Amino acid sequence: MSVLAQEQRTVLVTGASSGIGAAITEKLLGAGHHVIGIGRDFSKIDFANACFSPIQLDLADLDRLPKALEALQQRFPPIDTLILAAGIGDFGCLEEFSYIRIRKLVELNFLSQAYIARAWIPRMKRRRQGDVIFIGSEAGLKGSRKGTVYCASKFALRGFAQALREECGSCGVRVSLINPGMVKSRFYEALDFEPGENESQHLLPLDVAELVLLLLNLRQGCVVDEINLTPLQKVIHFKKRGKAK
Ligand SMILES: NC(=O)c1ccc[n+]([C@@H]2O[C@H](COP(=O)([O-])OP(=O)(O)OC[C@H]3O[C@@H](n4cnc5c(N)ncnc54)[C@H](OP(=O)(O)O)[C@@H]3O)[C@@H](O)[C@H]2O)c1
Repeated sequence: MSVLAQEQRTVLVTGASSGIGAAITEKLLGAGHHVIGIGRDFSKIDFANACFSPIQLDLADLDRLPKALEALQQRFPPIDTLILAAGIGDFGCLEEFSYIRIRKLVELNFLSQAYIARAWIPRMKRRRQGDVIFIGSEAGLKGSRKGTVYCASKFALRGFAQALREECGSCGVRVSLINPGMVKSRFYEALDFEPGENESQHLLPLDVAELVLLLLNLRQGCVVDEINLTPLQKVIHFKKRGKAK
């Protein structure tokens, strides 16, 4: 077991208010860790746990983000683990995207997560201890129709995670990337498609959360660089047309 695995961790989780990030938070709290969760709206969940500190923060506001992260570092100095799961899905043909819409998606899905890593990596390197787990996507493995900007944001995150992993290995800091396929969550609420209903046609947020715990509990001397987790069958259900393909 790693040094950290035996102790109570202090974990920063982005996207803690819903879906994958919320499931990770619940699992970490269940394992006795302290979680500082970032989201904009926590009314969707109720962890009622003294070890949970919800932080309302709009990660899309990049100009204010460095100062907000500095304040978090002062308030929670022991943070030793980052789980970066915040993100949104926005799909369409490129001409449907205004310039600002392109920027907003990349800023949230990639740049805000890179800023957070940037804020904590120096102290993790100094302490020669720390874990960073990025939640990427299968969209970061292969470009897909109507996914120009979303895929680009996830490809960027993947390149960042791979390079950071190389950079940090000799400093005792582990960096991993999980690329889930379609996960049944609020992610699809505003989209015109969703994963299939059958249990082998989607992942559950809990599946990703269990994988995160597994990675964190690995012996300190090893790291999972990247892992692709997908439902047994890929089925996309289009809401308007009601067809599966
Ligand atoms: N669902 C899938 O099929 C799937 C597949 C592969 C990868 N992923 C990735 O997994 C991650 C989580 O997705 P999910 O399925 O858990 O979706 P979700 O249930 O919609 O959760 C998204 C999370 O991101 C947070 N978030 C969104 N915009 C934010 C902002 N401006 N500032 C702060 N927090 C913000 C949300 O919090 P608030 O709403 O409270 O702000 C929420 O906690 C995303 O990065 C997504 O790209 C999802």
